[in-house]
Amino acid sequence: MTVLDPVQIKKDFPVFAHMPKGFAYCDSVATSQTPSCVLDAMNAYYTHARANIHRASYSMADDATTQYEAARADIARFINASVPEEVIMTAGATMSSNMLYLMLAEYLPLRPGDDIVTSVLEHHSHLLPVQLLAEREGLNLLHAPLSKDGGLDHDATAKLIGPRTRILALTLASNVTGAIVDVRPLIEKVHASGGIAVIDASAYVGHATLDVSALDADFVFFSGHKMLGPTGIGVLYGKKKLLERLRPAFVGGGMSEETDMTHMRCTDVPYRFEAGTPPIAEAIGLGRSVRYSEELGMDAMRAHIRDMVAYATEKVGAFSGVTLHSMKDADRNIGIVSFTLEGIHPHDVAHILGEQGVAVRAGHHCAEPLAKALGVPGTVRAGFHVYTTREDIDALVAGIAVARKTFV
Ligand SMILES: Cc1ncc(COP(=O)(O)O)c(C=O)c1O
Repeated sequence: MTVLDPVQIKKDFPVFAHMPKGFAYCDSVATSQTPSCVLDAMNAYYTHARANIHRASYSMADDATTQYEAARADIARFINASVPEEVIMTAGATMSSNMLYLMLAEYLPLRPGDDIVTSVLEHHSHLLPVQLLAEREGLNLLHAPLSKDGGLDHDATAKLIGPRTRILALTLASNVTGAIVDVRPLIEKVHASGGIAVIDASAYVGHATLDVSALDADFVFFSGHKMLGPTGIGVLYGKKKLLERLRPAFVGGGMSEETDMTHMRCTDVPYRFEAGTPPIAEAIGLGRSVRYSEELGMDAMRAHIRDMVAYATEKVGAFSGVTLHSMKDADRNIGIVSFTLEGIHPHDVAHILGEQGVAVRAGHHCAEPLAKALGVPGTVRAGFHVYTTREDIDALVAGIAVARKTFV
């Protein structure tokens, strides 16, 4: 396997040339940076093929449609979907999740007293749509607890899944602790009892190989901007046979086969779920970003990010006054180090780090139940990607020393 050189890789990302010298970008869980090839692909659409898709018969529009559908095929290959039609383009993970639970409310035979099993690790963009669904349909919302190492308590989760479980709603990796969740056995269990599994892959995708077929998940969602792609684009993956039975949550142009004044007949999957003009340039950009990741090699990317986690866990964890809240086993961490510093509020630490030229994030990271379960007001979170260097992590550690000196 190729060993990646993040110093060389940084050159593919124009933003690093514009950052002040020594600036350490460690906020890649919030959003990752974008390589030139992705910007070029979007620019090429705007300069050479700027037309709407699927609706016209002139060559520029054909070109736009071809590029958009090629992006769908690239994404499908990247996540190992069975066919490109299983990939629905959305505006991002939050939209994917909301629209999915709206559709599931209509499709699943939900009865008051049925269970949804979720976990305390969930990001609000997964937890809140699930909460709304439970509230509307009178369902029991069962929460799987945290394990001692910042992961999911698998045994406790498995025990929650039973004949009344209609939906298992889990993240594939925590955006706070970085813990990778071994969802496959839990998906098998929910299938055995007749339920379905929805997986949030937002913190995972682009950092390690995502294989939706191997997971056998029914639905998976994520955002493009965390996987070296542009903002404003995301994906909802669904098994084709399930998508064919769903009615779209959003309706409008481009998604009906036939419409009269009282009725509409939907067009095929996936177009019926993409009402209106989609984010065309962004989809093309996301297609290019997955090809860029494939060019680097997902195994090599994962190995590099894993090394950064191991190095940061050792360096940050050794610091006096630091409590690590992230998964310490780098093999089970997607790329995050989260910590608190004794006697100093996480926001103050992040502020000082910002002044030192180190980009991190502080707070509950839109996973407030998790912060409560950890017993902290929030954490300082550093997130790594393929361009992260040891020097970035050394800058983080030096910044922590300044924060400690300032406040203690
Ligand atoms: C695990 C997880 N799920 C969902 C989301 C929501 O993504 P977006 O804000 O791009 O919709 C995030 C974003 O931070 C996340 O980390």
